[in-house]
Amino acid sequence: MSRYPTIDTDGALVAVTGAARGIGLATARALVERGAHVALGDLDEALARDAAADLGPRASGHRLDVTDEDSFAAFLAAVEEHHDRPVDVLVNNAGVMPNGAFLEQDGRTDRLTMDVNVHGVIHGMRLVLPGMVERGRGHVVNVASLAGKFPLKGLAVYNASKYAVVGLTAATRLELEDTGVSVSAVLPSAVRTELSSGIDYGLLPDVEPEDIAAAVVASIGHRRAETAVPSYVGAATTGAALVPESVMRRLRRLFGDDAAITKVDDTARRSYLDRIGAQG
Ligand SMILES: NC(=O)c1ccc[n+]([C@@H]2O[C@H](COP(=O)([O-])OP(=O)(O)OC[C@H]3O[C@@H](n4cnc5c(N)ncnc54)[C@H](O)[C@@H]3O)[C@@H](O)[C@H]2O)c1
Repeated sequence: MSRYPTIDTDGALVAVTGAARGIGLATARALVERGAHVALGDLDEALARDAAADLGPRASGHRLDVTDEDSFAAFLAAVEEHHDRPVDVLVNNAGVMPNGAFLEQDGRTDRLTMDVNVHGVIHGMRLVLPGMVERGRGHVVNVASLAGKFPLKGLAVYNASKYAVVGLTAATRLELEDTGVSVSAVLPSAVRTELSSGIDYGLLPDVEPEDIAAAVVASIGHRRAETAVPSYVGAATTGAALVPESVMRRLRRLFGDDAAITKVDDTARRSYLDRIGAQG
């Protein structure tokens, strides 16, 4: 039984960032199917609007750059005006994942990763939480990653950004515990979207965007602090923290933990890297 006031997904207004494709789009679709009004925000405004049109009259598509607080404020204002109600749930989903050896990454890419994945989430929370606290009701879901709990070669700055989101979520959840407003994190393993395209994670299980969407929707009901998808990978990640480093090193070699450097199909990954290379 949740300690937070119930939010009925049917009729709620949910804003989803990075919703033009991938996990965000699957989440928007799942929410519309459950009767929610859904605002899709994305850098790619045309794609967000097309996606919203496909989802029907309860969905709207908007331009949003989460790295720009003014853009985020304008997005939320447009959403509340369009749907004529306050945002009940914010899903901070927009994210980027450049890959490659740490020493070969450039500063611009590092900053883009931290700007989108960390400051984008902070902006959304700063803007949406005051109204939620005032109303004594609301929910924020931050789509972090199991990379926010488990380091991987070739994803160091992405790891840093997701560890930051996990910490941000946990601390704000504590600060807001008596306000009726919940903050939760969903931690996906690898998901079949453009973001992970071309990387062969080997034994690491990959799931569909719809699996993450289902976890986001479920969190509106149970409000748990963290939900890992799949849950057994989350449990393994927690257990791994207790394994001595020398044992872990051997296990990591066995499983091949450098996929984001050595098991990359450059051709398959090119269009994703070009897309995020054009950002920022
Ligand atoms: N795909 C995976 O393997 C995986 C695993 C764990 C966590 N995640 C996380 O899930 C989230 C969604 O990832 P995805 O796989 O659906 O990626 P994706 O690339 O398929 O979709 C991300 C969307 O975010 C949008 N976006 C990027 N920067 C933005 C910005 N500044 N403002 C607004 N929108 C922006 C993009 O235009 C895109 O439509 C990310 O936070 C990612 O880190 C993904």
